[in-house]
Amino acid sequence: MASGRGSNAKALLEAFRSGQTPGRASVLISDQEGAACLEVGSEFDVPSFAITKRGRSKQEHEKEILKVLAEYGVHHILLAGYMRILSSEFIDTFQGTILNIHPSLLPDFKGINTAERQIHSKVKVSGATVHEVVADVDSGPVILQGALEVHPQETPESLSNRILTEIEHDLYPRAVWLFTARTLGHIEE
Ligand code: GRF
Repeated sequence: MASGRGSNAKALLEAFRSGQTPGRASVLISDQEGAACLEVGSEFDVPSFAITKRGRSKQEHEKEILKVLAEYGVHHILLAGYMRILSSEFIDTFQGTILNIHPSLLPDFKGINTAERQIHSKVKVSGATVHEVVADVDSGPVILQGALEVHPQETPESLSNRILTEIEHDLYPRAVWLFTARTLGHIEE
């Protein structure tokens, strides 16, 4: 599930297609009509749908998403820049099977505008985190983190771009691999 440009979705779809990460993407859902991530899904022949909220309640919106996920037999949900907070009812339905990627070394810098806040706080090291989704935002168990050194001249734009290209696109497929192996019991906790 994604809301925007879909570069993480693309990295995941490439990893599934090449076999680097076990699994198959059965459906891509965006909450934004015309979002670039929908084209990414189509490029990889993954059925891709915009399911917008359209003034409905969160419950009604999520109900429609859950219906589509059920139709496609989805077992795991990968949030890749999905910009809505899921309700605890939704999360309970897929308990322990929803992952998210966040552009900071959690538990530091939860929430939005992470690059601006990290530059403002003059952090020396930054990175990204893949974690399980629980009802508290950006708080679930960490699966994998990747770090980079923040350059002295770094701007929020350069930092968020470096986190994306130097860390996230490699980290998310590896984290899914690790999570899958653990879930299937191939790796001891
Ligand atoms: C990424 O930085 C991700 O960490 C955050 O949203 C951004 C999505 O980027 N959750 P993209 O749409 O995958 O390019």
